[in-house]
Amino acid sequence: MAFDLEMIQAVYAGMGQRIEAARAAVGRPLTLTEKILYAHLYGGDVKQAYERGVSYVDFAPDRVAMQDATAQMALLQFMQAGKAKAAVPSTVHCDHLIQAKEGASEDLATANNENKEVYDFLASVSNKYGIGFWKPGAGIIHQVVLENYAFPGGMMIGTDSHTPNAGGLGMIAIGVGGADAVDVMAGMAWELKFPKVIGVKLTGKLSGWASAKDVILKVAGILTVKGGTGAIVEYFGEGADNLSCTGKGTICNMGAEIGATTSVFGYDDKMADYLRSTDRADVAELANGIRQHLRADDEVYQDSEKYFDQLIEINLSELEPYVNGPFTPDAAWPISQFAAAVKEFGWPEKLEVGLIGSCTNSSYEDITRAASIAQQAVEKGLSVNAEFTVTPGSEQVRYTVARDGLLDTFAQMGGVVLANACGPCIGQWARHTDDPKRKNSIITSFNRNFAKRNDGNPNTHAFVASPEIVTAFAIAGDLTFNPLTDTLPTKDGQQVKLDEPMGIELPAQGFAVEDAGFQAPAADGSGVQVVVDPTSERLELLEPFKAWEGTDLKGLRLLIKAKGKCTTDHISMAGPWLKYRGHLDNISNNMLIGATNAFNDETNSVRDFVVQGDGYNTVPQAARSYKSMGIGTVVVGDENYGEGSSREHAAMEPRHLGVRAVIVKSFARIHETNLKKQGMLALTFADKNDYGLVEEADTIDILGLTDFQPGKPLQARLHHADGDTDLITLNHTYNEGQIAWFKAGSALNLIRLQESG
Ligand code: F3S
Repeated sequence: MAFDLEMIQAVYAGMGQRIEAARAAVGRPLTLTEKILYAHLYGGDVKQAYERGVSYVDFAPDRVAMQDATAQMALLQFMQAGKAKAAVPSTVHCDHLIQAKEGASEDLATANNENKEVYDFLASVSNKYGIGFWKPGAGIIHQVVLENYAFPGGMMIGTDSHTPNAGGLGMIAIGVGGADAVDVMAGMAWELKFPKVIGVKLTGKLSGWASAKDVILKVAGILTVKGGTGAIVEYFGEGADNLSCTGKGTICNMGAEIGATTSVFGYDDKMADYLRSTDRADVAELANGIRQHLRADDEVYQDSEKYFDQLIEINLSELEPYVNGPFTPDAAWPISQFAAAVKEFGWPEKLEVGLIGSCTNSSYEDITRAASIAQQAVEKGLSVNAEFTVTPGSEQVRYTVARDGLLDTFAQMGGVVLANACGPCIGQWARHTDDPKRKNSIITSFNRNFAKRNDGNPNTHAFVASPEIVTAFAIAGDLTFNPLTDTLPTKDGQQVKLDEPMGIELPAQGFAVEDAGFQAPAADGSGVQVVVDPTSERLELLEPFKAWEGTDLKGLRLLIKAKGKCTTDHISMAGPWLKYRGHLDNISNNMLIGATNAFNDETNSVRDFVVQGDGYNTVPQAARSYKSMGIGTVVVGDENYGEGSSREHAAMEPRHLGVRAVIVKSFARIHETNLKKQGMLALTFADKNDYGLVEEADTIDILGLTDFQPGKPLQARLHHADGDTDLITLNHTYNEGQIAWFKAGSALNLIRLQESG
């Protein structure tokens, strides 16, 4: 699998000097977060201090990881950069597209069949561009990354929200959109607002039923789903050092549920143990050599309040198991209060399914602790009253726990082992139910529990807990059961209590695997053909966007003047459209269909002055009519246009359908940058009242482009239907480099020109 030891050596070699320079620039001791971030500045040298929560900074991450759903468009775009290889070590993981229905082998066979074109494309494009490819069934991205690639002090981006899982191995790992992955693979800078730092001090030691999962379930209750926004959560203290590395991974994984940029733990012996156990003793050796750089400065630990933007303290010795939910991961219930809450709120008491595993909780420790509960069901003669599934996070974990007899234990309890994939965690679950309208309860050891996430059913009340608590609940089949205090009836009528779970942190005989499911890329990929079926509805190779024609843009039509909220979901809806995310033309049929037309207050209904005379058309169809006549269009929007996700489709679709400029009162920054990357004009009204001047039948000229400069506004002339005109001023935030993107037609066009020239 070839983690890149030389890359790690290079990162460590420069770290001390950069950290010292950062300490001098900042003028105080540094948190671990700051050490890792300053050690990964784009361009290398630390020249100044950055203000947390304020400064935008360019970074150079060490790695990229992509899951199969988001990798499609990312890699289609990357192909446009004209590079022979990805600029940093990168991997693709086939985990999101496998539906759980019958069990691991049947479901994997079905997925291989149904998603063949996507897998063939991803395998071939990875092979060509030096990208490691993890086949369907190999495992879930974050578990595979933790086992193979994460390293203390590293920095990684991944095209999935739970990328922060790698913080369990001391890495700053951040979930991003596909466009960011393309930037880093193409060798460009990756921009992030320098985050705030929230400290979580852990004291004491876990015991009994309490587990690492309960730490993050409690933190989610304290910080809520928004409390971590714009911040990195840094865990420390003797309690942190006592937690297993994989337990730390669970905590960092679920930091996504509090909106945190990422979460991280300082390097310690538990991480070294995990590295050795996963065949990376050499990385542990290297990390031991620079241990002081892989933890915060001592003063930060001694005088924590001074150095963190917010500080939380949790005593692990007093921590209770938690159950969080339903419908949101921050509704945190200590187990001692949960049964009363179930009754008070009238949640369905009968538990229908317990699901353990996923990227969040399928470590050897998790599985052994859950199996120790399952074993008791068998030994004590308890009936199991709910369905029960196990989703291993990787083939390595599955093989190892099968070898050690743990999967047999679950089978004896009536459990079904699902494929090593996301499955029910991402709604890929053909759940067997007699009545989908019935209110019902399930409990998982996953991370998210928003309505409909697991089975698409709004009546399902999903709760989240540790794997051992989930297993105990599955045996009881009753949400009002408290495994710490209550008894259960045996088949012969006795009442027994479950003993506390017993876990084994790392397998005594080591991890093993027969076929991990990895395809190493070709050493020289120049002869490799990328496989895309030209008749495919799901995949389409991209054509480079046209370069700027060198003149002002005249005679553009207004496509839509959007009113009120216009998020990336309004611009490029998710749901059923996601299956087209590798096919720009097909997914463009959702362009702006959620936006409200300011002239008729309707969605997806705009005037089309070409094909339909004075009639109305859908937004994508109107754009296609103008495009077919060679007429460019303009989208006008309100405040905070493009807020929401970093979905690159929201910028690519308008570009593909002929929109030349997006003019708004204000932008969400990420979307504004995404528009710039696609070679579009992202402009704001200098006077917000000018939004009111734009009329439905306007044609619009964008002026000043032949002298497009940073800081110099552009202008638009609005030609109204009655013959009047208005000249308005448009501000922009383009720097020199971004103007070059515009001129080349896109950022990737520019890179390709530079590569070839
Ligand atoms: Fe997959 Fe769920 Fe994790 S979707 S990556 S198992 S959060």
